[in-house]
Amino acid sequence: MAGDRDSSTIITTVTITAAALIATYLIYRTIRKSSQKLIGRVKQLYIYPIKSCAGIKLDAADCNIDGFKWDRRWIIIDENDLFLTLRSEPTLALVQPSIEDGQLKLTAPDMPPVAVPLEVAEGATSKEIKIWRTNITAFDCGKEIGDWFSKYLNKSNLKLLFKPDTTPNRYVKDDSIWGVDGQSNDQCAFADLTPYHLTFTASLDVLNTKSSRQISMQSFRPNIIVETEEPHVEDHYKYYHIKDTTFRKVKNCERCLLTTVDPNTGVRDVAREPLKSMRTYRKSADPRQKNSPLFGINTAIDRLGPIAIGNSVFAN
Ligand SMILES: *[C@@H]1O[C@H](CO)[C@@H](O)[C@H](O)[C@H]1NC(C)=O
Ligand SMILES: *[C@@H]1O[C@H](CO)[C@@H](O)[C@H](O)[C@H]1NC(C)=O
Repeated sequence: MAGDRDSSTIITTVTITAAALIATYLIYRTIRKSSQKLIGRVKQLYIYPIKSCAGIKLDAADCNIDGFKWDRRWIIIDENDLFLTLRSEPTLALVQPSIEDGQLKLTAPDMPPVAVPLEVAEGATSKEIKIWRTNITAFDCGKEIGDWFSKYLNKSNLKLLFKPDTTPNRYVKDDSIWGVDGQSNDQCAFADLTPYHLTFTASLDVLNTKSSRQISMQSFRPNIIVETEEPHVEDHYKYYHIKDTTFRKVKNCERCLLTTVDPNTGVRDVAREPLKSMRTYRKSADPRQKNSPLFGINTAIDRLGPIAIGNSVFAN
């Protein structure tokens, strides 16, 4: 019967097409995998719970869409709702957070320790603040912690704000400069643009042959430090694979005055290293970065999962 012949032809065609598609995909996947190069291994992992304050070292971490848990979830603002950074307040480098007993605990030189809960306090007021070119709403952590920062920095009316997991992040696509380089789901809380910042040890080694002062990787405030052999390997790859995760480079990171603050002393280098040396060999060609020197990469994440110190890092 004609009808049966037609349907069996359709079934055969569909089967052949499906088989061809699967075969193409498998070949593509094999080629993609074989195009990934081993560039190094994870040396260290860090979170910086409060923007511009000291970091916390981790042995392992889950990679979420919006960064490691507790990374850049608090921020200090002044009486004009402008956020503070190491650029203007270098001694923030000596504010050391820890996450213990369901609290964010802080210590700083000549200050009593203080703590805030890891959640929005009941009745907390919310505020919309601007981080570079995009806005976010966050919650006031209260007068006690605000006054603590005011006393430490000798600046009146400071506030600490918290962004819980349950309220919206900032999206890369909304950024007026870099939005075109992001994808629709790229997001973070208080990080500058993207949820993960990766740096590479061989690039630091090159820098330290040129800088008048030994620069520590902490000056760049990375989340993931990759131990590498080839300097500036990040110039050649867009995707970075660690275990089952895939990080996608959105841009090379342009560096500012913040890097001149010594993370161990909270003092800004009068010789302006490492910026001065980096300007001699690492200036960006992207006009959006206005001749700033480049170090490390800002990445979003395409595949989530756990990673740990020692994991191999592949790139393509
Ligand atoms: C972003 O927040 C600031 C206040 O910090 C406000 O002046 C501005 O209008 C907001 N922008 C948008 C697009 O909502
Ligand atoms: C704190 O700031 C005020 C002015 O804003 C200044 O007069 C005072 O000397 C400062 N105190 C310290 C300890 O730096």
